[in-house]
Amino acid sequence: MSELEQKVAEVSLTDGPTLYVNDSTGIDESSANGSQEKPYKTPAYALFVAPNASIIVFKDDSYEPISPSALKKAKKGADGLVKKAEKAKKLEEQQAAREAEEQKKIEASKAIVIEQDKSLPEALKIKIKDSTENRGKRIKVSGWIHRFRPQKGVAFIVLRDGSGLLQAVLSGNLANAYQTSTLTRESTVTLYGVISPVPEGQSAPNGHELAVDYYEIVGLAPSGDEAFSNRIQENADPSILLDQRHLTLRGDTLSAVMKVRAGLLRAIRDVYYEENLTEVTPPCIVQTQVEGGSTLFGLKYYGEDAYLTQSSQLYLETCVPALGDVYCIQESFRAEKSHTRRHLSEYTHIEAELGFLTFDDMLDHIERVICGTIDKLLADPTISALIKELNPNFEAPSRPFMRMKYEDALVWLNEHEIPNEEGEKFKFGDDIAEAAERKMTDTIGVPIFLTQFPVEIKSFYMKKVKSDPRVTESVDVLMPNVGEITGGSMRIDNTEELLAGFKREGINPEPYYWFIDQRKYGTFPHGGYGLGTERILAWLCNRYTVRECSLYPRFTGRAKP
Ligand code: 4AD
Repeated sequence: MSELEQKVAEVSLTDGPTLYVNDSTGIDESSANGSQEKPYKTPAYALFVAPNASIIVFKDDSYEPISPSALKKAKKGADGLVKKAEKAKKLEEQQAAREAEEQKKIEASKAIVIEQDKSLPEALKIKIKDSTENRGKRIKVSGWIHRFRPQKGVAFIVLRDGSGLLQAVLSGNLANAYQTSTLTRESTVTLYGVISPVPEGQSAPNGHELAVDYYEIVGLAPSGDEAFSNRIQENADPSILLDQRHLTLRGDTLSAVMKVRAGLLRAIRDVYYEENLTEVTPPCIVQTQVEGGSTLFGLKYYGEDAYLTQSSQLYLETCVPALGDVYCIQESFRAEKSHTRRHLSEYTHIEAELGFLTFDDMLDHIERVICGTIDKLLADPTISALIKELNPNFEAPSRPFMRMKYEDALVWLNEHEIPNEEGEKFKFGDDIAEAAERKMTDTIGVPIFLTQFPVEIKSFYMKKVKSDPRVTESVDVLMPNVGEITGGSMRIDNTEELLAGFKREGINPEPYYWFIDQRKYGTFPHGGYGLGTERILAWLCNRYTVRECSLYPRFTGRAKP
């Protein structure tokens, strides 16, 4: 008998097993078994496995029986382990019971069949915008789940169909049915039921609620990682939100701006109709510039050089002799290098051209168009409600607009210590750049017609003021919070003068033969202007940037989605 066997025999007074413990090589897991080859790590664990075991521990460089004091400590430790194991087992049992209960509920909910009650009157198909006039009737309405709040025994849905929002409530079997538990945000459904006013003190869109008696799922949107709320997170980086523009468009704010935008385009068309202007559609692909070569987007067109249009002005000028006063609503393109709040690479340009009028006539016309459009928007209950939501402090501008000459603006800027781009006092000929213009407009706080800019800082086609040929019959309309929303001018109607303008700007007049012909075949005094749709909207809807006013904004480095 070896020395160890002898020692073991001496201590093995119990009828339990003999278990080996090695603090450095042992492990307290079921893959160990307490043999010398697979010892446990702690005496407590060994006793937890076999309470009546004889414990042999590895000490210094050999195994020896555990000391009485270590054994006492180990017994305590083993008791702790027993309690811990009992607690874990209890938790496991509780979890299993909960899962079984849940499973039972799912089985029960799966057993609920959602069926339409044939005895109910046939449902009338409506859009949400018509829900108030259809209260009390049985209706059906299809749309997207804008918000979903399942509760015990009831589920609330806010449905969106593009025409409005409708709160709907599912109760009883409808709320408990399995299919209801699978609903997610942006899933499409058709809801059937009756709309009634919500009880006093409760709020819901339009003050009413659809009590659903039957519904169908049209398309389930994903849950989990792909869930809508994971794709679109409110405080996400703007570039991530722009990548997901096709989904962010569904949000309250962006969709409201897009509706105001539609209202604006409709209203301005109505105003133009009242002002006797005819709508035309000039081309986007052109071979001439209007507003300077540096912002042209070039392209190859069947082997020839061409551009995306910067402005349809030159084409509109050719339409006046044929159609009278004209306008267009057309995309314009500018390769703007700078990232600013008010520049896009593609924007919707509202442009008009009018014949036989003076510069003052044109300013009056611009005022009527802007104010008439705003009046129409505010008179439309749907659009004015959206504007109120987006820009609670918006007030229609009062007429007449303030009129201020460029030179007077320089005086104003110098008096208010607003410097030019070089950080110096403004002097005649300086461009009033965005920051200074904005400061001035915001301080004055009302729309301004800023007129008579120097020839050198304006385009080749602008007519000079007779009494002061240093300046042009030009205007920028400036609005608080945005700055310039409109630029316009009277046009040179004399061929020689026009050719001198081309020369001054270093433009080859050849491709402009058709434009120059206007001065040859019955010249006439005329003028026009361009309004940036997104800039008017930024002003009207109080948006920080024009990017929020474009469906899929294009600016430096972005042409997706
Ligand atoms: O002042 P602009 O460059 O004038 C013209 O293009 C004239 N040819 C128009 C005309 O007389 N028919 O541009 C007119 C308006 C600006 O006042 C501004 O509202 C908008 O177009 N605009 C832009 N909007 C967004 N992004 C840009 N990069 C813009 N550039 C001009």
